[in-house]
Amino acid sequence: MSAEAQQQQQRSGSRLVAVGTALPDKVLTNADFEVMMDTSDEWIRSRTGIAERRVGGTTTGLAVEAARRALERSGVAAESIGLVVTATQTPDDLCPSTAAGVQDALGLICAAFDLNAACAGFSYGLVVAHSMLLSGAATAALVVGVDRMTAATNYDDRSTAILFGDGAGAVVLTSEPDGDRGIRAWDTGTDGSHADILASPIRDGRITGVEMNGKVLFKHMVRYAVDSARAAVERAGLELDDVVAVLAHQANQRILDAVADRLGVDHDRVISIIEHTGNTSAASVPLALDAAVADGRVGPGDPILLLGFGGGLSWASTVAVWG
Ligand code: UT7
Repeated sequence: MSAEAQQQQQRSGSRLVAVGTALPDKVLTNADFEVMMDTSDEWIRSRTGIAERRVGGTTTGLAVEAARRALERSGVAAESIGLVVTATQTPDDLCPSTAAGVQDALGLICAAFDLNAACAGFSYGLVVAHSMLLSGAATAALVVGVDRMTAATNYDDRSTAILFGDGAGAVVLTSEPDGDRGIRAWDTGTDGSHADILASPIRDGRITGVEMNGKVLFKHMVRYAVDSARAAVERAGLELDDVVAVLAHQANQRILDAVADRLGVDHDRVISIIEHTGNTSAASVPLALDAAVADGRVGPGDPILLLGFGGGLSWASTVAVWG
């Protein structure tokens, strides 16, 4: 990235004003999996950090609920929202988009579209909405990350079935080009050469479930995530010590720990919610953000790092000053 582009990133803010989330009511515990397949609570907890996940609902229903909460908390008028970007790899239908469902349910008058960058989708959505706000396309936007991963899970494969849950998270972004708050820098990337280690194929028109070589994926993902996080923090003109919380994709507790170790940040600054949600793909970063805001670990004026990574392989990091 050129020095000019880097300076432009640091100058340009779009504020993250509020976050809202939605989780289905139904809980699927590790004990439930012990009945369904040859596995154990001990194996799942020790390999992944997951104890339970929420399952059910519809992608559009979860997206609408999260977006409505974020909008209510933001105090931004519905009439001001000019853009809805929804990140998902599990839409209810290919058309109309999930974003169109959000636009309609909330009575918005705006542009709306979906994007798919798998588990990095919400973080990509932030960069896309930020860029559109800066271009003048809108003055306020909703960015939603939502996935119904359990609808795309193969319950005959114990190595992947135990990982996933459903959920949604949304933030309201407002345009603030010269303010102290908001998005300060970002980094995005993709390496499409690894379809053999993580894929969710469609065969004869049917979604067959996630296919993953977990061990190989683990190594690549940690490396890409850490490099991307460092690039974004540097472009923001900050040090990792300045970042109060890392909101990283919740794929596996061991990945969160490895990311913390390689970034050299305390484990408690890498927010973890995976114990009670599992891997919710595009929803996991805003779900982690919501938890950290709710318990005060992230407050107004705090620098944060939002770090999405997953299928593609794709990754996206955003450094922002919250609130
Ligand atoms: O969201 C996108 C990003 N996702 C990731 O980056 C995921 C990264 N990878 C991982 O999270 C881990 O690799 C997994 C949690 C998926 C798997 O952990 P692992 O330590 O890599 O296990 P493994 O797949 O190498 O399997 C080890 C053993 C095998 O048995 P043998 O061959 O050693 O006898 C598996 O058959 O564990 C067995 N196993 C299970 N045992 C009990 C696999 N799944 C289960 C299970 N319960 N659910």
